[in-house]
Amino acid sequence: MKNVAILISGGGSNMVKLVESMAADHPARPCLVMANDPHAGGLEKARQMGVATAAVDHTAFGKDREAFEVKLNTHLEAAKTDIICLAGFMRVLTPSFMEKWSGRMLNIHPSLLPKYKGLHTHARALDAGDKQAGCTVHEATAELDGGPILCQASLTIEHGETEDTLAAKVLRLEHIIYPETLRRFASGDKARIDHAIDAT
Ligand code: GRF
Repeated sequence: MKNVAILISGGGSNMVKLVESMAADHPARPCLVMANDPHAGGLEKARQMGVATAAVDHTAFGKDREAFEVKLNTHLEAAKTDIICLAGFMRVLTPSFMEKWSGRMLNIHPSLLPKYKGLHTHARALDAGDKQAGCTVHEATAELDGGPILCQASLTIEHGETEDTLAAKVLRLEHIIYPETLRRFASGDKARIDHAIDAT
């Protein structure tokens, strides 16, 4: 049975879906939900689901990313973490952290990578007049939003779509593909599976 730690910064809607999925014959269980913001809404949701939580306030470390990550690793190791899922985690992690967890860390990104790495993905897709949008689950590596892609889900951008309506539709796709991809990854399956889902 694999132990999965989920790192969040905000509401943690992806975290909730991941925790809910890890039951019955699933090869993994949640061991920790950790946030870089002690006030992250997802921490209370995790507590209500009976999952251990931790908060490491990154603002307490100033520019010392390494010291922040030493604290993260203390909690991750205490929880006997096998796999990390970044789920709306908004801090850039150093190459040494990524190296330590290389091959054992996933991320979900709200675009069809390699398009639109970084922030404001939906606005950029709309501004570009793209016909398709979606989300990607990938192995997290030192290259921001750049690791091997494990799953993508795409949808057709409707006429009159706004950044908010698109974000809501893509978030629903994230909630589908992240749990499914974690299950496969935890069982050792790293094959890529893409979906064209019309999230109506
Ligand atoms: C969402 O924009 C999602 O696309 C991205 O992180 C943000 C917050 O997600 N992965 P969550 O609700 O905290 O999981």
